Amino acid sequence: MFAKIIINYFAIELLIVHEVDCRDKFPCKFYSSCVCVYTKNNLLSVDYAGKNITVIPLFSGNVENVSLANNRIQSVENGVFKYNLHLLYLDLSENKIYQLASESFQGLFNLQTLIINNNNISSTVSPSNVVFEPLVSLRYLDMKNNSNNCIAFNISFLTNLQTLKIDFVDGETYFDTEYKALRNLTNLDLSGYSGRCLMKILTPGTFEYFPYVQFLDLSKYRINVIYRGTFKHLRHLEFLDLSDNRCLKFTGCINIKYDLPSTSIKVLRLNKIHQTFALNTELFKCHIQNLRETKITEIHLDSNRLQLVKQGALSMLPKTLKKLSIADNQFT
Ligand SMILES: *[C@@H]1O[C@H](CO)[C@@H](O)[C@H](O)[C@H]1NC(C)=O
Ligand SMILES: *[C@@H]1O[C@H](CO)[C@@H](O)[C@H](O)[C@H]1NC(C)=O
Ligand SMILES: *[C@@H]1O[C@H](CO)[C@@H](O)[C@H](O)[C@H]1NC(C)=O
Ligand SMILES: *[C@@H]1O[C@H](CO)[C@@H](O)[C@H](O)[C@H]1NC(C)=O
Ligand SMILES: *[C@@H]1O[C@H](CO)[C@@H](O)[C@H](O)[C@H]1NC(C)=O
Ligand SMILES: *[C@@H]1O[C@H](CO)[C@@H](O)[C@H](O)[C@H]1NC(C)=O
Repeated sequence: MFAKIIINYFAIELLIVHEVDCRDKFPCKFYSSCVCVYTKNNLLSVDYAGKNITVIPLFSGNVENVSLANNRIQSVENGVFKYNLHLLYLDLSENKIYQLASESFQGLFNLQTLIINNNNISSTVSPSNVVFEPLVSLRYLDMKNNSNNCIAFNISFLTNLQTLKIDFVDGETYFDTEYKALRNLTNLDLSGYSGRCLMKILTPGTFEYFPYVQFLDLSKYRINVIYRGTFKHLRHLEFLDLSDNRCLKFTGCINIKYDLPSTSIKVLRLNKIHQTFALNTELFKCHIQNLRETKITEIHLDSNRLQLVKQGALSMLPKTLKKLSIADNQFT
């Protein structure tokens, strides 16, 4: 009886594994080395990732989802996607792409997701910004970590964007007034982990034209100074990450407390905003005073060499707070 149950159990398990692994997957008709699967819309999702290819092949018109990630592709030739009117999702990340041409994305006017991070594209590769022009439906764009120059494409006409992950160019009037048209842009990731771009100073002008942002990642950007008013008009801001800006210190972000009450802040991340071997730090009332006027639920202060929290400082925290993370500090 017992043995039978075990056997049954294995039989069921095998069946499930079998189904998950092989369900509907088959070698694509056009390129047998890539794997196809039918999507809900009865179109094809093509997995051509990690196959060491150097040239983007032509795909048939019935593909909806294509991953070409992690290959050795160097350029996106003119018109290579021109038959792919149904394509919604395109992953070109982790290639060696350094060339985009004016008609690289021709035909992709239904594309919703373009992932082209970890390549070698610089804004000089195309004579103008027309390269992105067909992508009128784009909602998600990840262009992080490209080339040694930061990208300065003008993508303000991609008005359906919801998520933008890009390396910001300090000092250029990049996010100018035309970016106001991106009314659906709620998720902005400018984090500087590629180490290629930096943004030392934040001013009220920096995000002036992104009033709809809810999620803002500014980690590892070598920010030194944040002026009062930088976040004030971000009324919808719920998540702010300033972690890993090691020259910022508690004093450097003292100004954000004036701004946060007029946002919708819920999560504030300030991990490691001091140097690893800096002097021990103290948290004063004046650092967090105005947070009482917010509805914040999480504050992260890990790895800040924090030794002392001044008496009364914690009572400045709002009642809505559910999580205060203070790991890896120097409390005595
Ligand atoms: C990729 O292709 C190149 C030649 O085109 C070859 O030298 C290299 O070994 C291949 N790499 C893998 C992982 O197959
Ligand atoms: C497309 O396929 C990738 C895997 O190749 C998957 O991660 C992604 O969720 C798919 N996207 C859609 C919209 O089906
Ligand atoms: C990046 O592209 C430039 C040409 O624009 C080339 O000289 C360089 O070798 C490329 N780097 C890598 C890592 O492929
Ligand atoms: C960016 O493009 C928009 C139109 O698409 C244009 O109005 C604006 O002047 C451009 N900005 C820059 C800095 O070239
Ligand atoms: C933003 O999203 C809404 C609803 O999802 C959509 O109707 C609208 O066309 C989108 N674009 C702009 C620019 O508002
Ligand atoms: C950036 O891209 C390069 C290759 O172009 C890669 O070696 C590096 O790990 C990437 N950095 C990040 C933070 O993803």
